[in-house]
Amino acid sequence: MIRLFQLLVLAITLGTPATCQLDKWAKAAGLKYFGTAVDNPALNNQGYMKIARDTDEFGSITPANGQKWSNTESSQGRFSYGSGDAIANIAKQTGQLLRCHTLVWYNQLPGWVSSSYSKDQMQRIIATHIQNVAGHYKGQCYAWDVVNEAVEDDGKMRQNPMYKAMGIDYITHSFKIAAQTDPTAKLYYNDFNIERCCNAKINATYDMIKTVKAAGARIDGIGMQGHSRVGKSPSKKELKDTMAKFSQVVDELAYTEIDIRHLKLPASAADNQQQAKDYLEVVGACLEAPKCVGITVWDFTDQYSWIPGQYSGEGEACLWDRSYNKKPAYSSIVSLLQSAATAGLRSATSSPTAAVTARADATAEVVVVTTLATVLARA
Ligand code: G3I
Repeated sequence: MIRLFQLLVLAITLGTPATCQLDKWAKAAGLKYFGTAVDNPALNNQGYMKIARDTDEFGSITPANGQKWSNTESSQGRFSYGSGDAIANIAKQTGQLLRCHTLVWYNQLPGWVSSSYSKDQMQRIIATHIQNVAGHYKGQCYAWDVVNEAVEDDGKMRQNPMYKAMGIDYITHSFKIAAQTDPTAKLYYNDFNIERCCNAKINATYDMIKTVKAAGARIDGIGMQGHSRVGKSPSKKELKDTMAKFSQVVDELAYTEIDIRHLKLPASAADNQQQAKDYLEVVGACLEAPKCVGITVWDFTDQYSWIPGQYSGEGEACLWDRSYNKKPAYSSIVSLLQSAATAGLRSATSSPTAAVTARADATAEVVVVTTLATVLARA
C-alpha cells in the first residue's frame, strides 16, 4: 500500500499523459517548438493566457492579426505597433519564440495599397513597409512570414496589387529587403493548400521559390498552413512527399496554421477520434521530415478560432474546446511526441542538458504511468 502511494505521488509529480505538455514533448522529440497563434481579443482572458504563456505547452507564439499591414500601416507612412507589440511582449516575457506574421499579403491590406502604382512606386511602398515593421521587431522574430499566399490554387500567380505593379519581382524584392532589415530572422514563404502532394499550387510554389532564389533573394523556409477538414485531411505520406519536394529548395519547413475543422456540429465522440487521427498525420509527418522544425496551431481553443466566422456551421477545429477541455487530439499528439522522444526518432533540440533531462523525464514518466496503471489494475 505504501508503494502504491509512493507511485501515485511520483506520477503526480512527474505528470501523467493527460497533463503533459505539447512543447516540452515536441522539443524532447527533436522539434524546435510546438506553437500557437494568439489574437488580441484573447489577451484579457486569464484562463486563456495561462495556457498561452505556459512554455511547456507552447514554445512559440504567432500574432494572428497584430502585425498585418492593416494593423501596422493603415495609412501610408504612419506606423502603429500596439496590437503586434501586445503579442510580441508575451514572448519577451516568457522566452517563447515569436513567429512573426506577415509582411506582404493581399488580404488585410489597407485600401491605399490597393491603388494602381508603377513598379518603382510599389517597390518603395514595400521597402518602406518592411523596413519599418521588420525594423521595429528586429531581433525579436525567430521567423518572418515575409510573403503570404502569392500563388493561386491553379498554380497561377495571384493578381494582387503588388503583383500587378511588379510581377514576381515583388516577392524577390520583399525577401531582399527583409533580409537586409532583420538578418537573423528566418525568412519564410507561407501559404495554404500546399500540404497534400502534389498539386498545381505546390509545383508552382516550388518553381516560384527557385526563381526568386535564383534572382538573389534568401528564402529560408516554407510554411504550410494546414487548415483542413476532419476525415478529409492529408495523410502522413502525402504530407511527407510534399516536404521531400520542398526540402530541395529550402532549409526549413513548418506547419504554421494547423486547425482541422468538423464539417457538422456538434462533433460526436467518433468525429473527435477521427480529428485526433488527422492531427497525428500532421505531427507524424513533421517528426519524420528532417527539415520540419515545428508545428503551430491556429489558436488552441475553439473559443477564439477563426473558422466559425468564415465557414458557417463548421468548426471545433482546435485542440481545446470552448470550455478549455482538451480533446482526444491533444492527448494523441502528446503520446506520439512521447513515443518519438523515447524512441529517439530525431535528436532532441533543447540544450544538451535540457534534452537529457527531457528524455529522462520522458522515460520516467512513461515507466511510472505504465507501472501505476498496472498496479492500479491489480489493486
Ligand atoms: O478588427 C475588426 C474589428 O474592429 C471589428 O469589430 C470586427 C467585426 O467583425 O472585425 C475585426 O476584424 C477582423 C479581424 O480578423 C481581427 O479580428 C476581421 O473581420 C476578420 O476577417 C479577421 O479575420 C482574420 C483572417 O485572417 C483575415 O483573413 C482571422 O482573425 C485570422 O485568424 C486569419 O488568419 C489567416 C492568416 O493570417 C493567413 N492564413 C489564413 C488564416 C485564416 O484566414
